[in-house]
Amino acid sequence: MNKTVIVTGAASGIGYACAKLLSQRGSKVVGLDVQRKKLEKHFRNLDNAIGLCGDVSLDLDCINAVKSAVENFGGLDGLIHCGAAHSSARWDELDPNDMNRILEINVTGSFLIARACANHMKKNKSGSIVLTTSASVLFGVTGGNGQGGPAYVSSKGAVIGLMRSMARALGPDGIRVNAVSPGITDTPMVASYTKEQKTAMRERFPLRRFAKPKEIAEGAIFLISDKASFMTGENMHINGGSNFGG
Ligand SMILES: NC(=O)c1ccc[n+]([C@@H]2O[C@H](COP(=O)([O-])OP(=O)(O)OC[C@H]3O[C@@H](n4cnc5c(N)ncnc54)[C@H](O)[C@@H]3O)[C@@H](O)[C@H]2O)c1
Repeated sequence: MNKTVIVTGAASGIGYACAKLLSQRGSKVVGLDVQRKKLEKHFRNLDNAIGLCGDVSLDLDCINAVKSAVENFGGLDGLIHCGAAHSSARWDELDPNDMNRILEINVTGSFLIARACANHMKKNKSGSIVLTTSASVLFGVTGGNGQGGPAYVSSKGAVIGLMRSMARALGPDGIRVNAVSPGITDTPMVASYTKEQKTAMRERFPLRRFAKPKEIAEGAIFLISDKASFMTGENMHINGGSNFGG
C-alpha cells in the first residue's frame, strides 16, 4: 500500500503495530508520540518512517506532524490516531482536574489531529481518517483494577460522536472518517489490570483471549485503504466477540 500516513501513539502498542505494518507494506509513516526515547528506538528500524515527539492535545504539534508528512514525503493520505491517555479512577475517586486532562488528550486531541489532517486533505479532495474509541463504551465499565473508569469511558464515547460529525462534514470533500473500537488488547495500557481481573475478562470473551496489537492495526489499515472506499462514519468493533454479552 503506497500511502503517506500519520500514526499517533506510534511509540507503543496498537500505534506502533500500525506504523510497523504500514512501513513493511510500502507506505510512508510519520509517527507522533509524547514518548521520545521509545519512539526513536522503535522507528530506528522502520523504512520510510519518521518519529516525531509531540502531544496531540497541542494544536501546533498536530500541525507540525502534517507539515512533516508534506515536507518529507510530499503529501498526506491517511491518519490513524491511536494516541490516548488511560484513567481507571472510579466515579467517587476521580479528581475533576484528571477528568479534564483525559478529555483534553482523548477528545480535544482527536479533534486537533483530525482537523490538522483534514485541512491538508481537503486540498486534494481525498483522504482517510481513523480515530480510536473503545469497547469500554459498550459496557460502561466503572474503573478500578486497572480497567477504564468514567473519565476514560466518556472520552471514548465522545470520540464516536466526533467521528460521526466529521464524517458528515468532510464527506463532500472526499475525506472518509471512521473509528476502530478495540476490545482488551495486550499493550502497556492494560498492564495495570490485576491478574484476577484479566482472568475474569478472558472468561467472558468467546475467543478466551485478548487481542494482539497487530489484530487491531489490521482493521485500522483496512479503513484507511482504498478497499474501504465506500465506508465512512463507521465504528469497527474488533473485540473477539466480547460485545454480544455473556
Ligand atoms: N489496549 C487496550 O485494551 C485498548 C482497548 C480499547 C481501546 N484502546 C485504545 O487504543 C489506542 C492505543 O492504545 P494502546 O493500547 O496501544 O496503548 P499504549 O499505552 O500502548 O499506547 C498509547 C500511546 O499513546 C501515547 N500518548 C499518550 N498521550 C499522548 C498525547 N497527548 N499525544 C501523543 N501521544 C500520546 C503514549 O505515549 C503511548 O505511546 C488508544 O486510543 C486506546 O484508548 C486500547
